[in-house]
This record gives sequence, C-alpha cells and structure tokens, in this order.
Amino acid sequence: MKQPTAAPSEPHLFVILGVTGDLAERKLLPAFYHVTRQHGCEGDSFLLGVGRRTWSDGEFRERTKPALARSGIRGDELEEWCDDHVFFHGVENYDAPGGFKSLRERIESIERDCGLPQNRIYYLALPPEAFSTTVTGLGESGLAHGNGWSRLVIEKPFGRDLDTAQALDATIHRYFSEEQIYRIDHYLGKTTVQNMLVFRFANGLFEPLWNRDRISRIEVTVGEDLGVGTRAGYYESAGALRDMVQNHILQLISLVAMEPPTAFEADAIRSEKVKVVRSITEISHDDVVLGQYSAGRVNGEEVPGYSEEPKVAANSQTETYAALRLQVDTWRWHGVPFYVRTGKRLPERTTKIAIVFREAPLPLFRAFQTEPTPNVLVISIQPNEGFDLFFEVKTPDRSFKLDTKRLTFRYHEQFGRIPEAYETLIADVVAGDQTLFVHTDEVDASWRLLTPLLNNKPAVRRYEAGRWGPDEIYHLLPDWSDFCLTESDTTANGGVS
Ligand SMILES: NC(=O)c1ccc[n+]([C@@H]2O[C@H](COP(=O)([O-])OP(=O)(O)OC[C@H]3O[C@@H](n4cnc5c(N)ncnc54)[C@H](OP(=O)(O)O)[C@@H]3O)[C@@H](O)[C@H]2O)c1
Repeated sequence: MKQPTAAPSEPHLFVILGVTGDLAERKLLPAFYHVTRQHGCEGDSFLLGVGRRTWSDGEFRERTKPALARSGIRGDELEEWCDDHVFFHGVENYDAPGGFKSLRERIESIERDCGLPQNRIYYLALPPEAFSTTVTGLGESGLAHGNGWSRLVIEKPFGRDLDTAQALDATIHRYFSEEQIYRIDHYLGKTTVQNMLVFRFANGLFEPLWNRDRISRIEVTVGEDLGVGTRAGYYESAGALRDMVQNHILQLISLVAMEPPTAFEADAIRSEKVKVVRSITEISHDDVVLGQYSAGRVNGEEVPGYSEEPKVAANSQTETYAALRLQVDTWRWHGVPFYVRTGKRLPERTTKIAIVFREAPLPLFRAFQTEPTPNVLVISIQPNEGFDLFFEVKTPDRSFKLDTKRLTFRYHEQFGRIPEAYETLIADVVAGDQTLFVHTDEVDASWRLLTPLLNNKPAVRRYEAGRWGPDEIYHLLPDWSDFCLTESDTTANGGVS
C-alpha cells in the first residue's frame, strides 16, 4: 500500500518536540533521514529538534550524526545533510508562555533563512503527561495555523481511559482540526498490517472465505520475550490492557474484520475500522485472563519475576499479560470468537494473527489414524513479516496418513529491505495522507470498550516467565495455535497442537 517513495513532498519544517528521547534517537531521526532522501526532497526538508536543553545547533548536529550512524546511515552526504538541514531549539519550560513564543520566532527565522513556506509538522515525541501542555503551547503561540499547512503528530498512549482520552482530544481540537491530527499507532506502519487490505480485497480467492461460514475462530498473539526493562515507571500504571490491547490489538482486529471500504481513502477505511470496534460486545470476566510473570527462564536465561524488577512495587497487581475472548457481533462475524493474548516474558517475540478455518465436513481419513487439522492462515507481523498457509497433504507412502505442511511468503525474501514502520508513517504525514493514522472516533470506541474492564479487573494470575501465560488461558481456549508461532516447519500431526 504505502511506500515512502510513492508520496509527493512539499518543502516543510519537521519539528520534533522531545528530540533528546529514546524514540527520536532510535526511530524518528533515521526514519526522517530516509524519507527525505527517498523522496529526493533533501533540499526542501528541514529538521528542528526541540528539548529542555541549552544545546547549540552545532552540538545537536554532533549528537545526531552518531545517532544516525548507529542505525547504519553513514557517509559524506549525512555530514552535509546534518550541517545544512538540522537545527536545535531549547525550551526550558513547556508551561511558561515565553517558551513557545521563542519557539515560534525560531521557526519563522529558519523558514525565512531557508526559503520555506509555512508548512510545519510538529511531532510530539514526549511522555504522555506533556501532550496537553505542549499542544496548548503550540496553539496559544499561534503555531497551529500558518500560511501553509500545519500537522500535529501525537504518539501513543492517547489517554489512559475514556475520560482522559476525551479531555486530551478536547484540548487538541481547541487548536487543531481532525484533518491536521496524525495519531500514531506504529503497527499501522508495518507492511504486513497494510498488506491485510491488499490480501483481503485484491485477491478474489480469500474474501469469499472471510466470514462465519468458513472461519471458526481468529487468534491474535502479541508476545514479547523481554520483561519490563527500564519502563516500569510507565508500565506500573499502564499494564498490558492499556499498553497493547487498547491500541495495537484493536487496530489489528479492525483490519482483519472490517467490511470492504467504498474507496481506498482515509475516511472510507477508517470509518469501516471503527465499526468493528463498536461492534465488539461488552467484555465479561469470563472472557478475560490477566497474568503477571514470575521468575523463570527465557531464551535459556534465568530472569526475575515482574515484582522483583527495578521500580516495581513488591505487591504490584499490574498485569503483564492479558488474554481475551472478543465477539465482533456483525452479520459477517456473529459466533466467531476472536481470541487475543499478549504478554511480556513469553517464549518468543512474535506478533501473529491466525485465521483458523472450519474443518472439512466429512472425516474421510479417520480410518488412517489421523484426524485432519483445520487449515490455518497465519499473518506474521513480526519478527518476519509475511504469511503462512497450513494445509493437509498425504504422506508419500501407501497409506492415507495426513501431514500438515505450510506455504510460506516472507517479505524480506521477495523484496529485500522493507521500510521501517516509522519511515512509512513519516512519509505519509509529509504527504498529508491520514489513512494509517488513528481517527478520534477509533480512540473513543476503543476506550469505551476497555474502560469498564479497566475499572473492574479480574484477579491477576501468575505465570512462569518463558511460558505462554497462566494455565487459565487454556480454559478460555484449550488449543491455542502455538504451532503457528515458530518459523520452523511442522511435521506430522503429532507436532501440531
Ligand atoms: N521509545 C519507544 O520506543 C516508543 C515506542 C512507542 C511509543 N513511544 C511513545 O513516544 C513518546 C516518546 O517516547 P520516549 O521513549 O522517547 O520518551 P522519553 O525518552 O521518556 O521522553 C522524550 C523526551 O521528552 C522530554 N520530556 C520529558 N518529560 C517532559 C516534560 N514533562 N515536558 C517536556 N518535555 C519532557 C525529554 O527531553 P528533554 O529533557 O531534553 O526536554 C525526553 O528526552 C512517548 O509518548 C512514548 O509513549 C515510544
């Protein structure tokens, strides 16, 4: 769908607020550099980093070069680009009115010096508690509207429940219209996630099967092998439901379950997606298992339990794991459960969607000691973007024993380098295309669904690090499609759970 090379670009100033942070250094600076080069617009794209520091332009450039080099970008062109196109501005205090006045003066001065129209992108790479103040600062200093276009990019999390999300939205809409707002869910920048639309709506083969008549269930797994690491400050008050389910997982379900849009346009696609979230029925405690990892082994190493991690309360009840059974109650999906599981310290880092098809109606081959396994289509979002189709074959002997094999497609094998999610998303912001960004209605619908559960959570179970979650998830679904999660081939039904 979207490729950074495909979109046109107009001269602009890309302002990163919070440029000294982890996201800016690891993702945004390299992505912005790639986008400017791939558009051939390096002469017209300028970068202004903003932080609560007193760095000069020169100091910031000398920090930016190694940051880009760490992501594999090197050479004379990089040096030149940094020296000519990168600036820094210090804002000591985001709450003080003078801070944004001086930012405006700096922006206008760069635009004059570089011959830029007032086309501006403000990327809020800031902790969520700074979103509201920053938007107010931008708005009150007159930066939300100039003679050109102004766009606001806002990171997740967007609120921590329905009330806080609505309050943040109200603040933003006081200064920016919905057409100016780009809410990031970086999963939407991943090629396989976008490919779901192509897979479903450009192939005549699959869409006729994509419904309750042919599909028995859908499973979404978002697993991390890492623990909470250095993010406990944020994670203790977030947990897996807020961190993963409200945004990434509901976005994935929307794309899998949506109806065909009337056109391949942002509004048409986003309005079909939001209908999916609005159709999910109330989530009861019987449909949820929450967990927290205890000490165990992951990738062969002993790891501590969550409550032993730095900055985590010893009696913490934060869930590092959530499994849910959701019902998308539409004509197409009525009666088809959507199972979701996500957690930290699972056996591997993986994001996969398994579409489990109904079994063949007649068990013709039972006499040969093997039950057929249902066909499963696995959409693989990370680490290796692509998909696998599992199907039954006859073993090459004189009997009619069945074996499950997979047809595999991997993006990197067919296309080489695929763009990083942030590259795709930044290219789209530059081009003014909102398709891959979350609309306010989607945020609202997702918090409406999850807030009652967040206000009344079931007990948090323990699971040993290195397992797929607490044992109770097997009451929710006895046969999760774990076999789909590994990259290696499967053999005989014995190897397939
Ligand atoms: N890091 C990731 O991989 C990642 C992934 C997905 C989403 N996100 C989201 O992206 C945003 C940025 O993430 P991050 O990891 O880069 O965050 P971060 O390192 O905690 O913060 C980024 C920068 O914000 C500035 N800052 C901190 N508190 C501030 C305040 N109260 N007012 C104004 N500025 C403040 C700091 O810079 P100065 O002190 O120089 O001003 C800091 O370097 C967050 O909303 C996060 O949830 C991050």
